[in-house]
Amino acid sequence: MSTYVLLNTGAKMPLVGLGTWKSPLGKVTEAVKVAIDIGYRHMDCALLYENENEVGEAIQEKIKAGVVKREDLFLVSKIWSTNHEKERAKANLNKTLSDLRVDYLDLLLIHNPMGFKVGNDYLPLDKNGLVMPGNTNFVDLWNVMENMVDSKKVKAIGVSNFNHEQIEVILNKPGLKYKPSVNQIECHPYLTQENLINYCHSKEIAVTAYSPLGSPDRPWAKADDPSLLEHPEIQAIAAKYKKSAAQVLLRFQIQRNVIVIPKSTTPKRIEENFKIFDFQLTENEMETILKFNRNWRAVAFEWGVKHKDYPFHIEY
Ligand code: A2P
Repeated sequence: MSTYVLLNTGAKMPLVGLGTWKSPLGKVTEAVKVAIDIGYRHMDCALLYENENEVGEAIQEKIKAGVVKREDLFLVSKIWSTNHEKERAKANLNKTLSDLRVDYLDLLLIHNPMGFKVGNDYLPLDKNGLVMPGNTNFVDLWNVMENMVDSKKVKAIGVSNFNHEQIEVILNKPGLKYKPSVNQIECHPYLTQENLINYCHSKEIAVTAYSPLGSPDRPWAKADDPSLLEHPEIQAIAAKYKKSAAQVLLRFQIQRNVIVIPKSTTPKRIEENFKIFDFQLTENEMETILKFNRNWRAVAFEWGVKHKDYPFHIEY
């Protein structure tokens, strides 16, 4: 099978990328270097992750050493929610480019449809623990993103955490110049996202699954939350193919043309997560895994439920 997805821009986006959310300073540079050596070309980054400078260090080193060329890489980053206003969005992109030490991104996403109150606090909460909204809207930000394509600082633009109605709003924007190329959403067997994926694919929008392993290291994990990596049926399928549970979870996605960005800073796992092109799940196994869906979110933005652009009030 193919190792990439063809975007609506004509660009090839590798189906497996390295996730960097939660990758700590002191570990992420080595993780990216290991990943590039193994063959990863797609890195998923964001200003919010506060580690792009360290990711950039690895990229610069591997380019300097001649291991990869810039044009071999597919670099993704995002505009954070406190930066939806035009000048702040531009500053967000410029900081990312400078930290990653590149002069363009392959894909820039709106990290979240919800814009927040402007300030240095990434998550400005009121006394009730609810996020303080900004006075922007994501359609205006889309215009700014389109300008970023024209200025050649990004090759493609997309969204993340958008529901299908919010995507529809962008697609119906008067004078739309560039369609979103990707919607990056939480997706794994407990949140299979069939409706949203079908919708996106029908509009030629590729889908990236974040938290494809269920994000066991998310800071707010509770002891009784469900664990995908320990799911007995996933483990049984893994045993059948002499693969790991993680490899089955990732294969499940790429086999339905969904891009995955597993995060790891462990070299052995980084390698394991890339070795998913040498086995194939049967249709029955794909069906079985789809039935694990329970619409469970590892990342639910509970602080956002009152925001006008909270994406998860509707089914998909
Ligand atoms: P670590 O980074 O310590 O290797 P997600 O991509 O869904 O957010 O999941 C990331 C979490 O899954 C991290 O805790 C990461 O641990 C762990 N992880 C990544 N790859 C594997 C793997 N192949 N097997 C088990 N755990 C993994």
